[in-house]
Amino acid sequence: MTTKTSTTAATAGFASSTAALNTYSMHTATCGELTAAAIKERVTLTGWVSHRRDHGGLIFVDLRDRAGITQCVFDPDACSKEVFTAAETMRPEWVILVSGTVRSRPEGTLNPNMLTGEIEVLIDEVQVLNAAKTPPFPIEDGIDTDELTRLRWRYLDIRRPEVLSALKLRSTVTAALHTALNARGFIEVETPIMGRSTPEGARDFLVPARQNAGKFYALPQSPQLFKQLLMVGGIERYYQIARCFRDEDLRADRQPEFTQLDLEMSFIEQEDILALMEDVLVEVLAATGVDLPVPLPRMDYAEAMERFGNDRPDTRFGLELIDLSKEVANCDFKVFAGAVESGGVVKAINAKGAGDLSRGEIDKVAAVACEHGAGGMAWIAFTSAGEEKSPIIKFLGEDVLAAIKKACNVEPGDLVVFGADTFETVSAALSAVRLYLAELLNVERSGHSFMWVVNFPLLRYDADEKRYAANHHPFTRPFDEDLEKLESEPLAVGSYSYDLIMNGYEIGGGTLRIHSEDLQLRVLKQLGFSEEEAREQFGFLLEALSFGAPPHGGIALGLDRLIMLLGGFESIRDVIAFPKTSSGADPMTGAPGPVDARQLKELGLRLG
Ligand code: AMO
Ligand code: AMP
Repeated sequence: MTTKTSTTAATAGFASSTAALNTYSMHTATCGELTAAAIKERVTLTGWVSHRRDHGGLIFVDLRDRAGITQCVFDPDACSKEVFTAAETMRPEWVILVSGTVRSRPEGTLNPNMLTGEIEVLIDEVQVLNAAKTPPFPIEDGIDTDELTRLRWRYLDIRRPEVLSALKLRSTVTAALHTALNARGFIEVETPIMGRSTPEGARDFLVPARQNAGKFYALPQSPQLFKQLLMVGGIERYYQIARCFRDEDLRADRQPEFTQLDLEMSFIEQEDILALMEDVLVEVLAATGVDLPVPLPRMDYAEAMERFGNDRPDTRFGLELIDLSKEVANCDFKVFAGAVESGGVVKAINAKGAGDLSRGEIDKVAAVACEHGAGGMAWIAFTSAGEEKSPIIKFLGEDVLAAIKKACNVEPGDLVVFGADTFETVSAALSAVRLYLAELLNVERSGHSFMWVVNFPLLRYDADEKRYAANHHPFTRPFDEDLEKLESEPLAVGSYSYDLIMNGYEIGGGTLRIHSEDLQLRVLKQLGFSEEEAREQFGFLLEALSFGAPPHGGIALGLDRLIMLLGGFESIRDVIAFPKTSSGADPMTGAPGPVDARQLKELGLRLG
């Protein structure tokens, strides 16, 4: 988690809410609103003691609530003895209510960095609402307390402005989503949390059931099938801020439970969904102070893979992959020639400005390639002094070297790194190397970039499972013109599909859906389901498709990722109130926890 201060986006849209806090409340003002305009006013404030300073007979208490901090002054000449004694005993994080009169701060003590920096409140009444133990870490921004400790006491962490700003940003975004979608005729519908497994490519979380011992509900990986059934039900435009559950390996941008803005529309084509989503995003981002130019750029899946090695490229910088397969096909370096001969590729990245990296630094780049599946990473450094250093140059020969230099537009000061393997392996390795180099070389990546990646193949070949797998999910509609190839050339079938990419992250994905039973059965067959298996697992969907399903399609945005990127946070844990650690645990509540033997027995379960 970052300890960055809030950005403009994180605080925009909340100006009016502090005044609203003064209604239905013990306080008449928040700790974040009093300025010189309030001088001489009598106010009551509530909050937490942030700091207490004793200053030659005066006591200063910085009082904090979610709106800000206000300086409160206890002067023995201006308050009763009891009030002053109370101030003397106060400790950080005590909860207090104070009343007093706003006055200007003495000359020389004004703080232009805070909204309330012109004033202080001279206190004459105080109530201690609750005492507090000393917190395990300071309640302020910019602390370096480790994440585990902060999650163990997350409610204290949430008192810190930067965590609060993330939650506010989240609320701003969801409120704007509701407004934008309601204005466009969408109906919000809740779908079950306890259901049957929906295949989205991850493992299910299972819930055993006492009344049906030996059977399990699955938590939804997404509301995919239910939203399609809502279309069959004639809802036409559905949305939901939906919690999804996926048992997968966790990363900075993956949590076992996360939130999607999920939507589905009937009687639409792909262009309608993309246009709708762009319009909604423009409104939502405007609510956070971000201007989004539309229409968004689009890139074909194939082009993204070719140029960047993955389907969610960060296009804010270059370092693109260059295909050198032709140039090196007949060279004497076996790794290169062999890769091409066996149907693979040789690709390179020219890292401008990296030509003088030390051997040790280059080895670290190679390690990144190897971590992502490469068997090695050949390289040629063209130093700024005009030397050529490389472990492979001697095998290449002058012509091949010249061809590489030309294709990569080499200049002194460049480092060219190579991947030679299958297209998939080279893509995975070099796309990781690309990001690593951008970080290492401090390549400019400011601002936000949004983009659609479109035209995904319907299927991919899963070499481990030795079968075809859906690129998005099994309900994706193949291109009409490719239907005849579904059985003969399955990998050549395109699909109505689109991913939304922001700053190199996939923040959304969707497809048009199959709306005929026959076609759905044909696609499931390609995915390895017999008709019997298909009906056993998806019978309810197949049946629904036979009862007049309208043409439909939709999309889901990963809300946590969108908010993380908008707020400039490094992990989606930063924008979730109570996230799980990377091992899926909650260090505060201790979840997941053991259950007692009686519970297990009732469920008909025995632990192995
Ligand atoms: P998909 O599986 O692409 O599509 O998910 C949509 C978006 O959800 C986000 N996301 C996640 N965010 C945090 N943690 C996770 N573990 C996680 N997994 C996914 C991503 C992703 O783009 N039903 C389809 C949508 C559709 O076809 O309409 C679906 O769920 O940002
Ligand atoms: P070797 O012939 O194994 O000593 O490798 C010579 C150089 O080629 C080293 O820099 C290796 O990292 C690199 N290399 C090995 N395998 C690959 C590969 N699959 N792709 C790119 N470079 C490789």
